[in-house]
Amino acid sequence: MDQKIFIKTFGCQMNEYDSNRIYDAVKEIGYKKTKNYEDANCYVLNTCHIRDKAKEKVYHDIGRVKKFFRSKQKPLVIIAGCVAQAENQEMLKREPYIDMVIGPQSYHKINDMILNYQQKKKKEEETEFDAISKFEYFSKIKNQTGKISSFLTIQEGCDKFCHFCVVPFTRGPEYSRPFKQILDEAKFLADNGTKEITLLGQNVNAYNFENSKLSNLILEIEKISNIKRIRYTTSHPKDMTEDLIDLYKNSQKLMPLVHLPVQSGSDKILNLMNRKHTVDYYLKIFNKLKEINNNVEFSSDFIIGYPGEEKVDFMNTLNLIKEIKFINSYSFIFSPRPGTVAANLDLVEKKISVERLEKIQNQLYENQININRSMENKTINVLAENLTDDGTKVFGRSEYMTSVTFNGKKSDIGKILSVKINKYNRSSLFGELSVNINKKVA
Ligand code: SAM
Ligand code: SF4
Ligand code: F3S
Repeated sequence: MDQKIFIKTFGCQMNEYDSNRIYDAVKEIGYKKTKNYEDANCYVLNTCHIRDKAKEKVYHDIGRVKKFFRSKQKPLVIIAGCVAQAENQEMLKREPYIDMVIGPQSYHKINDMILNYQQKKKKEEETEFDAISKFEYFSKIKNQTGKISSFLTIQEGCDKFCHFCVVPFTRGPEYSRPFKQILDEAKFLADNGTKEITLLGQNVNAYNFENSKLSNLILEIEKISNIKRIRYTTSHPKDMTEDLIDLYKNSQKLMPLVHLPVQSGSDKILNLMNRKHTVDYYLKIFNKLKEINNNVEFSSDFIIGYPGEEKVDFMNTLNLIKEIKFINSYSFIFSPRPGTVAANLDLVEKKISVERLEKIQNQLYENQININRSMENKTINVLAENLTDDGTKVFGRSEYMTSVTFNGKKSDIGKILSVKINKYNRSSLFGELSVNINKKVA
């Protein structure tokens, strides 16, 4: 009988990358991917711990699986990711339906753990920080995502310890993968259909392997002819060095959307958060980039209602959003995380935080709609990624990551096409292939 594995992924792109690599790993021991958890005999939850209720979501999900399989053969249940790292043994104790708990830097052990469990039926937990072995293993098995736009993790962990954040505890210290290991993976992806690579790391621009930095890596990946677009996320303002900024001058493949989380527009709050940069410092980076290349746009992450945030701090954040005209950004109310410095601070009143979040999001939506409106009747470059679910249109992305749907055919997939935009909403653009428009005119 076929062994089928289902993975549900929460959280950031690094978890998505890891989930894909777990699929690559378990293939070696005979598992096939299934899209329906009802068919699975191995159920994996790749979890995120960044905001509250993460843990409860996991138990809730397991409850659902348990209910479905009540009168059927129980699947092997594995909890992976950042909740697994943070909660480890506790999870096995609290929910006996869970069979294995595996932290984000132990995935090189997943096959041995599964085989061992199948033989001995003994519950297992692995939460050691061992990024070296994880990526050595990942580099031996091929990255078979086969997608037009693929993720490639180059750096993991964080040494910055922002006072609100669990990542340094769930992903461990900063680690940069060897340069050649990354290039080999990029080449393999390119040989297998990938046209766009997004380099990933919790602090991707802190990448440093034997003095090779993110900028060196981007320049090398640019030489791979089949790769047409390069992105990277997530960056920290402190690591936005001149060499990286300079790439925006001439690079043909580095996309002009800079995702640079600022979190707050108030120096007082940035200081309380231990962000290690000021608003002025952030604006300097913004202005430098704009001077170098006026097409560059910024997106960001915001935390609203951080302990100590007063009206004036909030207004400074709102004004910064208006000034920079951030697009495609994320904003959340502060969520106290166990073990972090900010865990026990006095919270801003919930009602006030909710109102502030709404104001921030309205401003971000306005920025988004303005930029989408400015695309109307323009012809833009779109990387065609796949057919829409009903198969009648093509889905792709603009240089700024905005979804674009247009008429097209299967053979367009993987190409960068000129699309004339004729409709828009807040999150998406719609258009027609330029060649078709020309044909119609003729
Ligand atoms: N390394 C990136 C940086 O420094 O900006 C961020 C990575 S973190 C995984 C992604 C985002 O989650 C953060 O930028 C922050 O906005 C949000 N976040 C982290 N901890 C949070 C918390 N306790 N409450 C609300 N949002 C949080
Ligand atoms: Fe978290 Fe990013 Fe701060 Fe690191 S730099 S602690 S990942 S928010
Ligand atoms: Fe979540 Fe872990 Fe990513 S906490 S945001 S999955 S690094």
